[in-house]
Amino acid sequence: MTPEQFRSQGHALIDWIADYRSGLDSESVMSTVQPGDIAAMLSKHAPENGSSAPNLIGKLNEIVLPGITHWQHPRFFNFFPSNGELSSVLGDIASTGLGVIGLSWESSPALTEIEQQMMIWMRELFGLSNSWHGAIQDTASTSTFLALLEAREAASNFSMAAGGLNQSETPLVVYASEYAHSSVPKAIMLAGFGADNIRWVDSDNDFSMKPCALLRAVQQDKAAGKIPAAVVATCGTTTTTAVDPLNEIANIAESENMWFHVDAAMAGSAMVLPECRWMWEGVERADSLVVNAHKWLGVSFDCSLYFVKDPQHLERVMSTDPSYLQSVRDNEVTNLRDWGIPLGRRFRALKLWFMLETEGADSVRQRIRRDIDNAQWLAAQIEEIRDWRVVAPVNLQTVCIRHEPEGMTPDEIDAHTQKWARRLNESGIAYVSLSTLNQRWMVRISIGALGTERVHLQQAWEKMQEFADHQIK
Ligand SMILES: Cc1ncc(COP(=O)(O)O)c(C=O)c1O
Repeated sequence: MTPEQFRSQGHALIDWIADYRSGLDSESVMSTVQPGDIAAMLSKHAPENGSSAPNLIGKLNEIVLPGITHWQHPRFFNFFPSNGELSSVLGDIASTGLGVIGLSWESSPALTEIEQQMMIWMRELFGLSNSWHGAIQDTASTSTFLALLEAREAASNFSMAAGGLNQSETPLVVYASEYAHSSVPKAIMLAGFGADNIRWVDSDNDFSMKPCALLRAVQQDKAAGKIPAAVVATCGTTTTTAVDPLNEIANIAESENMWFHVDAAMAGSAMVLPECRWMWEGVERADSLVVNAHKWLGVSFDCSLYFVKDPQHLERVMSTDPSYLQSVRDNEVTNLRDWGIPLGRRFRALKLWFMLETEGADSVRQRIRRDIDNAQWLAAQIEEIRDWRVVAPVNLQTVCIRHEPEGMTPDEIDAHTQKWARRLNESGIAYVSLSTLNQRWMVRISIGALGTERVHLQQAWEKMQEFADHQIK
């Protein structure tokens, strides 16, 4: 494609994206294609000869759109908000258009320096102290994996530089709440601790980690000759946005010399609001922290902010220094390849920068406040109606609910919940998630898409009642 062809196709594509975003309200939120439908529309083999004017937009409309579940839709309430402000979409396009890779500072100084400055801006917006330093990773899964690698090396006196964990007879143990995200056990296992050395710490009635249960588990492991190596706390669990008590966990981590990682992937965005910072009181005592800017904050996927207290430790665990990457500037600059796993680094900071330059921090704060208010409003509506229950504290933007018609057994309520939620999703009107809490099915309504206003919640709530009532008639 020549730059001139790119110009004309690119302008058409930008128009297409703008039309797509402005017309979302009338689309079915969830894609209703069947498995294999999209693949069946694709040619069996790659084209032998290209075209000077390929009908790319036609392909988007015919083949791609039917298979899209619209995450940016105002009645998207599944999983978590994954907002892609259009300003950050422009940053993504600019990043790809520049086509640079941050192998070292020298390989594109702007890439490194803008990323460093964005981490400083974000640290400040979250109210964090300047003892945090960070870099952008792809996902929270990777960030938590990095934290666990750092923890492993801190607890094993840099075993990776010798015989690895195999050299030790004493297992290292990692602790997390039973409501930690699945990326946590995955990271623990991939970092070589082994599934046998994960301790699931009991949670309280509000689904947050019980510090006394953590202490008990640590003491039991020590008595059995094991080494408590790390604890992962969650600020805003995926299921209910429960908040593990960071200060009390920090007390135990400090006295036992354990690595303390905080997963604030989802709730971290709300820390732009001073009134929400009670949720991570004690965060300053952690060793590492992840917040996903690609969730509620508004930066298009992927953009995960990984902060550490001791960047030298991170560099020691991550650094490689082959001759072909060395430059005369190495002593004066930071090479972010030593702050993560991949050598090649995308210019992700542009997405964050473009978004903040365009929206400004205050509009992000206002949007997040709007979503929190909307969640409170919805919870109040639900509590008012007979047989409906809000089943977990509404700390932020997630409302967990169940319709419990009188006379139904818990098993019947489980079946009923799954049916009405699936029918609602299949209707295309709204898209909610099903999840278990205390081994019972419930519906999670995760509010916070860019376009979600009260009216969309009102519409979804009416439909929820309609589907649930219809189910029992
Ligand atoms: C608390 C929490 N941690 C981690 C993750 C994983 O995020 P990512 O997809 O960026 O790995 C999520 C996503 O749902 C989450 O809610």
